[in-house]
Amino acid sequence: MSSPDLTQRAPDYVRAIAPYQGGRPIGEIARRFGFSEDQVVKLASNENPLGMSPQAKKAMLRASEDLGRYPDGNGFELKQAIAKKFGLPENTITLGNGSNDILELVAHTFLKPGVDSVYSDHSFAVYALATQASGARAVVVPADPQTLGNDLVALSKAISDQTAVVWLANPNNPTGSFLPGPAVRAFLKDLPSSTLLVLDEAYTEFLSPEDRYNAFEWVGDSPNLLVSRSFSKAYGLAGLRVGYGVAHSEVTDLLNRVRQPFNVNSLAQAAAAAALFDDEFLETSYNCNRAGLAQLTTGLTAMGFGVLPSRGNFVLVDLAVRGPAKTSGAALGASVFEALLAKGVITRPVGNYGLPNHLRVSIGTAAENQAFLQALQAVTTALWSC
Ligand SMILES: Cc1ncc(COP(=O)(O)O)c(C=O)c1O
Repeated sequence: MSSPDLTQRAPDYVRAIAPYQGGRPIGEIARRFGFSEDQVVKLASNENPLGMSPQAKKAMLRASEDLGRYPDGNGFELKQAIAKKFGLPENTITLGNGSNDILELVAHTFLKPGVDSVYSDHSFAVYALATQASGARAVVVPADPQTLGNDLVALSKAISDQTAVVWLANPNNPTGSFLPGPAVRAFLKDLPSSTLLVLDEAYTEFLSPEDRYNAFEWVGDSPNLLVSRSFSKAYGLAGLRVGYGVAHSEVTDLLNRVRQPFNVNSLAQAAAAAALFDDEFLETSYNCNRAGLAQLTTGLTAMGFGVLPSRGNFVLVDLAVRGPAKTSGAALGASVFEALLAKGVITRPVGNYGLPNHLRVSIGTAAENQAFLQALQAVTTALWSC
């Protein structure tokens, strides 16, 4: 009797998924090129170059005394901390294993074959992945040709009765582009009440005071809004995996039905609750990012590259403006990425985001930024000399 091929039992839309490509780990590059780990500079995953907040570290170490026990499955203390910090009812908060988990919970809850999931070209890869894993139809809308970011008019036109979810990162990754709060608010107001807007604010803490807006306030009159936030970026807790979503209590209740019971571990819960109130660390991270953004923009512009204006903790570099390079047929972004790896600098090629001639570079410390600029100068001389 021939047994059925197990892998064929997985739905076609699952078998067609191209796995997420993350930033390359320091250890891998050190092994491959014979560097010690501290010789490698990683500017590839939009992490905080200052590490984690000292208050968070203390809280995490205290929590490590009790790891024989399961975490609090309802995250009572972390939810209380978020509620207190932002003046929110606790029944509007969902905790996630990174904000990535919140995005997945949205997909599990609202997407299925027969409905549409709408997002812009060059938007965060997880929207496409979560959509594809659910069997929903992906409706990918052209980006704004100037900013390469979200075009609200184009997104509005793509919304129909079939649209269950529309995804919008603000600031957007990998472009760094930003939409003013009032424009996003107007877009939300125009959405059908049966379409959920996922407003992904993973980078919101890097916004300057004049750009800031409070989307949590919109949840009260917009039950079709979910705001997601991350502790991986400005708070420096990427390795612990913790984020959260804020939405109407009925949406929150649904997300919690599909959530794993213990999706956020004890160390992450304790660290995140403390990090929220370490204003000094947040401010230092913000200032470090502003200084690094200026340093990278100046250095890259002086080398003749294009730098898109960024509101995040990374820059998107347009390599093609420098003219044709010696790339032996590979895409420009991939060629520069590989050449930088050999010099011990990890960046992020974004060909998988439909941007083969760009490179995304996370903002590091002054020394890391300088190491990147130096390595790029050498790579540029090799690739663009005639
Ligand atoms: C726009 C955006 N949203 C969400 C995430 C997920 O972050 P995390 O799961 O670490 O909170 C990222 C990570 O890079 C991102 O760029």
